[in-house]
Amino acid sequence: MRILVIGSGGREHALVWKLRQSPSVTEVLVAPGNGGTAAEGARNVPVAANDCAALVELARKEHIDLVVPGPELPLTLGITDRMREAGIACFGPDAYCARLEGSKAFAKDIMRRAGVPTAACEVFTDADKALAHVRAKGAPLVIKADGLAAGKGVVVAHSTEEAVEAVEEIMRRRAFGAAGDQVVIEDCLVGEEASFLCFCDGTTAIPLPSAQDHKAVFDGDKGPNTGGMGAYSPAPVLPDSEAERLADLVARPILRELARDGHPFVGILYAGLMMTADGPRVLEYNVRFGDPECQPLLMRLEGDLPAVMLACVNGRLDPAMLTYSPRTALGVVVAAKGYPGSYPKGMPIEGLAEADALPGVKVFHSGTAFNDGRILAAGGRVLCVTALGDTLAAAKTAAYAALEKIHMPDSQYRKDIGQKGINRLTETGGARS
Ligand code: AMP
Ligand code: GLY
Repeated sequence: MRILVIGSGGREHALVWKLRQSPSVTEVLVAPGNGGTAAEGARNVPVAANDCAALVELARKEHIDLVVPGPELPLTLGITDRMREAGIACFGPDAYCARLEGSKAFAKDIMRRAGVPTAACEVFTDADKALAHVRAKGAPLVIKADGLAAGKGVVVAHSTEEAVEAVEEIMRRRAFGAAGDQVVIEDCLVGEEASFLCFCDGTTAIPLPSAQDHKAVFDGDKGPNTGGMGAYSPAPVLPDSEAERLADLVARPILRELARDGHPFVGILYAGLMMTADGPRVLEYNVRFGDPECQPLLMRLEGDLPAVMLACVNGRLDPAMLTYSPRTALGVVVAAKGYPGSYPKGMPIEGLAEADALPGVKVFHSGTAFNDGRILAAGGRVLCVTALGDTLAAAKTAAYAALEKIHMPDSQYRKDIGQKGINRLTETGGARS
């Protein structure tokens, strides 16, 4: 089987690494890939992840059997529809279903139709009406630009002034362009967040083990939000014993609604959850693997990933295809100093082979490039150093021990990835999920 992976992050490196382990795979191409995907034995091809026409052309020319889009942008642009028209299997939802991530108002509407628990909200296309609503309701409120805004379109406003400022920024100053033509204003929820992903074949949704991301840039969840500074699986806040019940609550009703609309959902449905005192609430849907959640999740996956993905495309997903290591996997993101603001590039990275050689450790590359035989930093998030351990604490120790081997000037990483889970396990007497 010949596979084309689309994207250039740590998630895509992990996908390449896992897909290549299948005996049925002969070659993996990545558009455009990174230093890690090249070192993994995949062929990087300089085609941008959002250039659907060029991606279809590449898939045709290279006789690709399965396309695996990593990020949301090609999905919202309709890459699955274009590949389907060309007769090429693509593991991802069509453009209609991808609006679950591409439009927060669309996601809220489907959640309402499907009866999925989520924060109460109102949707506005008129800035004056949005501002009047904010002033009448008062803080705390969450203001969300409707469209894709590179993870920056959500403001959790603790004062009414902040909420007013967010509406002004999104709707009047158009900080995110057309993505802010509509805003969703919703109630602020309190609790611990968790990532809940399912493999979907249009009608069947099979949960992956739970995971938890760390969105804030600094220790203790301080500082601005990033794409994610580290993740681990399983997350004690969402025990495996809850997975089927959660799939019934937040995934299967959505699949039913989309199928009824004539668009069965194929691919990964990712629910970002807030575990509140009143039960789980959906904060958002993503229509792809999370980055960095993908890295620890794929470290634990024991099945044949390309076979699972093809089964999803063909509507034949079977739970028996999916087995996972009972161990915990934990990944720590190494970022360039200054990220998520402006940051330097081009720093040399040393010690990657030494870290990778440690037992149970895999270093996934996010923003790296090969240059004259050296690996250089080429993005905000640069690496995701991931390790398996028999417990969450052991996985954390192993990942940070691997980090000690790696040297990169002008870098930063959080020191407390996994700590919330460890604290929870300590409080509950060490029960493992
Ligand atoms: P989203 O892109 O919708 O997941 O929002 C990004 C982040 O904003 C989430 O990971 C939460 O930390 C926060 N957030 C979103 N919606 C809410 C809400 N209703 N209440 C509290 N925090 C929220
Ligand atoms: N890690 C969160 C995301 O991929 O959206």
